[in-house]
Amino acid sequence: MLPLAPLLSLLCASVAVGASAVARGSPAGTAGCGTTHFFNGLTQYHSLTSNGTTRHYSIHLPSSYDKNKPYPLVLGFHGSSGIGLFFELDTRLSSSDYTPDKIMLYPDGLGGAWAGANYSVATVPQDLLFVSDLLDEVRAGWCIDNSRIYATGISAGGGFVNTIACSPVGANFAAFALGSGSLYTDATGPFPPSASCVPARSPLPVLEIHGGADPDVHYAGGPGEGGIEPAIPDWLGWWAQRNGCATPDVGKTVEDLFNGTVHHWSWTCGGVPGVVQHWKVDDMKHCWASTTLDLTEIAAGQGTTPIDASTIVIQFFDQFTKP
Ligand SMILES: *[C@@H]1O[C@H](CO)[C@@H](O)[C@H](O)[C@H]1NC(C)=O
Ligand SMILES: *[C@@H]1O[C@H](CO)[C@@H](O)[C@H](O)[C@H]1NC(C)=O
Ligand SMILES: *[C@@H]1O[C@H](CO)[C@@H](O)[C@H](O)[C@H]1NC(C)=O
Repeated sequence: MLPLAPLLSLLCASVAVGASAVARGSPAGTAGCGTTHFFNGLTQYHSLTSNGTTRHYSIHLPSSYDKNKPYPLVLGFHGSSGIGLFFELDTRLSSSDYTPDKIMLYPDGLGGAWAGANYSVATVPQDLLFVSDLLDEVRAGWCIDNSRIYATGISAGGGFVNTIACSPVGANFAAFALGSGSLYTDATGPFPPSASCVPARSPLPVLEIHGGADPDVHYAGGPGEGGIEPAIPDWLGWWAQRNGCATPDVGKTVEDLFNGTVHHWSWTCGGVPGVVQHWKVDDMKHCWASTTLDLTEIAAGQGTTPIDASTIVIQFFDQFTKP
């Protein structure tokens, strides 16, 4: 029989440590929990070395950041000829309107680009390794809820989010959301199987928002700036099938909104409601959909849209936790 007193004190000690490190009922945090950070609420710039190459990123913590509380993490990927700051400004995802309780992370692509386009500087394995190294660094330095890591991006950055979803690195993420995605690495369906897209698990939640009048990444697919792109409805159907729907149309519901100018598609696949979702804005061009005029809408030569992509993306992420 074990001596009771030492056993009890051991139990009490571990309960006490557990209670001070993480509130009861909270998810387990990463190694970075307990590390103090300053200037919370202000975006801060960092670099890391990935396979011998210096890479840059910025991180934004909620101003109320609690070093002992595990936070959901959202990676935001800028479009071509961009930097993380552009995506942060366009989407306003660092704002407490959207992410009062999330950590935002904005990586910079090499040469302003992400792998996958024919003009990219980095190779796909190189950028995927960067994402993996970046996740290691952030988990070690900040308090992250490992079951709630998400990726979003615009245009070529959205395409790269899909490249992550189609790779083993996608196993780290709970859900993916793309705006006006340039899907260069996933244009060779039909399912099954496409060697260029082997998701780490199924179902894997994916959302895409696209303009029916996009002159750069055509809704109907075809040649784009950096390569051939699939038709958006075809690509959505591939994801429905990858996620366990027998055909692209089974499990799909369509809702027409704003007097028929916006269409929301949602699939239940693999027993998960809304695991694939799509918003089509008929007259929208190549931009980040926003009800408040953003720079991508100005650059695209259009006004605001009836839907707000940042709201939709965060609400989508909030529905999913990595199993
Ligand atoms: C890492 O760097 C080496 C040497 O430059 C290169 O051969 C290799 O392809 C790189 N690996 C990745 C994943 O980019
Ligand atoms: C990239 O691909 C597009 C579409 O196929 C093509 O028009 C363009 O010439 C290509 N550019 C390069 C540098 O290969
Ligand atoms: C909705 O569309 C119909 C048909 O095009 C049009 O007559 C009507 O004015 C529109 N309503 C609004 C609120 O835009």
